[in-house]
Order: sequence, then C-alpha cells, then structure tokens
Amino acid sequence: MHRIALIVASTRTTRFADNPLAWILPKLTGFEVDVVDLRDLNLPYYDLPTPPAWSHRQYSSEAERMLGERLDAADGFIVITNEFNHGYSAALKNVLDHYFIEFSHKPIAFVGYGNVGGSRAIEQLRQVAIELDMVPVKVSVNIMGPQFFAIREGVPVDEAFAPLEDALKRMLEGFTWWADATSAARLAALPAAQPAA
Ligand SMILES: Cc1cc2nc3c(=O)[nH]c(=O)nc-3n(C[C@H](O)[C@H](O)[C@H](O)COP(=O)(O)O)c2cc1C
Repeated sequence: MHRIALIVASTRTTRFADNPLAWILPKLTGFEVDVVDLRDLNLPYYDLPTPPAWSHRQYSSEAERMLGERLDAADGFIVITNEFNHGYSAALKNVLDHYFIEFSHKPIAFVGYGNVGGSRAIEQLRQVAIELDMVPVKVSVNIMGPQFFAIREGVPVDEAFAPLEDALKRMLEGFTWWADATSAARLAALPAAQPAA
C-alpha cells in the first residue's frame, strides 16, 4: 500500500481548501495518507547553509526535521493548491525549497482550484517538481467556478464535486502507476545489505 503525503497549501483561516480536502480524503482508501497541512507547520523561511540537493537531510531545526521525516516516508505526494496571482502559495514554495531527497524519484499529483481550476499554479508546480527530480502526474483535478459557487450555496462537497470524479480517478491511476514504478526503482537502488561477519 503506497503512502501519500497529502499537502494542503493554503494557510488561510477561512480557506476554501478544506472542501477539496474533505472530498478527497475518504476517496484515498487504497492508500496510507498523511495530511501535511502547511497551516499547522512552524517551518521557518529557508535558511540552510547549503542547498538541500547537495547535503541531504541536514536539518537545522526540529520543525524541518519533523517535516523531512514525514516527506521521506511518503511514496508520493498530492498537493491541494490554491492560486494567488497566477502562481502557487509562498508557504508551499518554502516547503519545496527546504527539501530535495525527500521528494525526489517520487510522483506528485495536483488538485487545484480557482478561476481556471488552479491550472496556472499547477503548471508552475510541474516545473518545480522536475527540478526536484519528481514525476508530475499528467492528469490533475481542476475545481472551477461551478463547484466553487455550489459550495458557497451550501451544496455538500460530494455533490458539488461530482463532475470531477472521473478526473480524480484518472489522476489516482496515474499516481499509482508512477508510485509503483518509482518505489520499485528506489528499492532496487538501495545499497545491498552487508553480509553478516
Ligand atoms: C492576493 C490574491 C490573489 C489571487 N489570485 C488569484 C489568481 O491568480 N487566480 C485565481 O484563480 N484566484 C485567485 N485568487 C482567488 C483565490 O483563488 C481564492 O481566494 C481562494 O479561495 C484562495 O484559496 P484558499 O481559500 O484555500 O486560501 C486570489 C486571491 C487573493 C487573495
């Protein structure tokens, strides 16, 4: 069973993000899920002496170490992302910049929301994911105006987001394919155990 770190990128008190979170969580039954809610983290702004790509797992604070271990334990990531000024949130960039090996050789899939379903934020995230040596999953879930307004009118999430079920299914199929492939490849790349003396 693959372990997903489900990252919630919005840190706002009154965020919309809780709707996609409530919708997707019960649908991830075939996975172990760790909800990494950026609102709950006290991660400082990036201030490490060397880039994480050069010096793996060199944490300078307890908050960094704790999050690093959670990301390390994941076989892949699903990010629920908002869109601010055609980009993704600063809190999310801070997390992405803090780590490297914890993310690399793993898939990352996206659930976005906004005027165009968060797609501009998602496209930027795909570029960043490649630099982190990740596999961005092709299909994303894009929550648009009709779903947004249905939620505002009090329609339950399952009903409001019903038109997105197919995209979610295809996204999870892509995610699982890449999680299978990359988990096997990471395992094969581990150094062989030393024979007992
Ligand atoms: C500063 C700011 C910039 C925004 N820019 C965009 C944008 O570029 N595209 C978009 O679709 N929505 C934009 N919005 C609207 C957000 O998508 C909306 O506020 C959303 O609810 C934010 O996610 P959250 O409620 O989970 O924090 C913007 C909102 C703010 C406050």
